Amino acid sequence: MSHNTFGHLFRVTTWGESHGPALGCVVDGCPPGIRFTQAEIQAWMDKRKPGQSRFVTQRREDDVVKVLSGVMMDEDGETMISTGTPISMLIENTDQRSKDYGEIARRYRPGHADYTYDVKYGIRDYRGGGRSSARETAARVAAGALARKVVPGLNVRAALIQIGKHRINRDNWDWEQVGQNPFFSPDAAIVPVWEEYLDSIRKAGSSIGAVVEVVAEGVPAGLGAPIYGKLDQDIAGLLMSINAVKGVEIGDGFAAAELSGEENADEMRMGNEGKPIFLSNHAGGILGGISTGEAVVARFAIKPTSSILSERHSIDADGNNVEVRTKGRHDPCVGIRAVPIGEAMVACAVADHYLRHRAQTGRTL
Ligand SMILES: Cc1cc2nc3c(=O)[nH]c(=O)nc-3n(C[C@H](O)[C@H](O)[C@H](O)COP(=O)(O)O)c2cc1C
Repeated sequence: MSHNTFGHLFRVTTWGESHGPALGCVVDGCPPGIRFTQAEIQAWMDKRKPGQSRFVTQRREDDVVKVLSGVMMDEDGETMISTGTPISMLIENTDQRSKDYGEIARRYRPGHADYTYDVKYGIRDYRGGGRSSARETAARVAAGALARKVVPGLNVRAALIQIGKHRINRDNWDWEQVGQNPFFSPDAAIVPVWEEYLDSIRKAGSSIGAVVEVVAEGVPAGLGAPIYGKLDQDIAGLLMSINAVKGVEIGDGFAAAELSGEENADEMRMGNEGKPIFLSNHAGGILGGISTGEAVVARFAIKPTSSILSERHSIDADGNNVEVRTKGRHDPCVGIRAVPIGEAMVACAVADHYLRHRAQTGRTL
């Protein structure tokens, strides 16, 4: 299985399976002199880890990150300093229950990657989906924690803005709320609605889709390269690489199709500090593939979890028609845990373009 690496200069390779002993990543290209602590990485991991509320999978994983290489410890005994060599990070799998998956060893779960992995490789690690499991995304979050450190002043945040048909009221948007409810919702008013709704989905053994919005502030103007190295192109690609993502938008996205040119134009005025002020941000902070200095805004749609308790028609590896129902521990709405994953992918894209800009132009923004 090739293609386990993304990024050009901030280059991330992830490895490992859901039910193997461990998984992790190697970040090659992290500049020397980046200072970080294990606790800082762990804080992002803790946002993604399972078992934190009744609305996500009850798999119990501590997701403790061990940094194996590429750093020197500072005198304080806590701060690691990157040396410019590959940074390898390891996360042990501690709560695998492979027997949960025995029944799907030869049966293809509709909506999952079982059939396509078999048809492509002729062999498949069916325990938890192996490499197709979103457990792999733990390694991306670890890499994203480093990426955030590479770009000075970068602040990447994300929030869940829709579950099923229930959308937040954007007028209520408050970033402070995101850390205060089990959904990463920026709108406190929607929380009881989502709770009741997801409880009914969970009790029925069903699942539902969601939309996540990622906002990156502190992205300097000038990152991204026309025409095949666009910042929005790379962000879209990395968000689309997250398990279960079926749609990505930048800025106004598909809604831009309904706007007139007048409405869509992000008008400019000269600001006091010699930099322009944009009067709106329909573009989501990117024009011509290059960042404007405004917030970079991306959204992605997540499909409902394929693991559901009700029987669905499928086939098995021997070509028989079968009925499949997935037992085991699953997220009724994987969009919740996708929030920190989306942040990590955008952080990695911005860090990569930051280093690429410096490499090509010799200039620091
Ligand atoms: C955080 C997260 C957790 C997931 N957990 C599950 C799960 O428990 N059961 C499941 O069927 N799919 C789960 N998925 C989705 C599958 O990994 C994904 O649907 C599968 O790999 C097929 O890929 P595709 O949907 O991108 O085509 C999860 C996705 C994310 C982002």
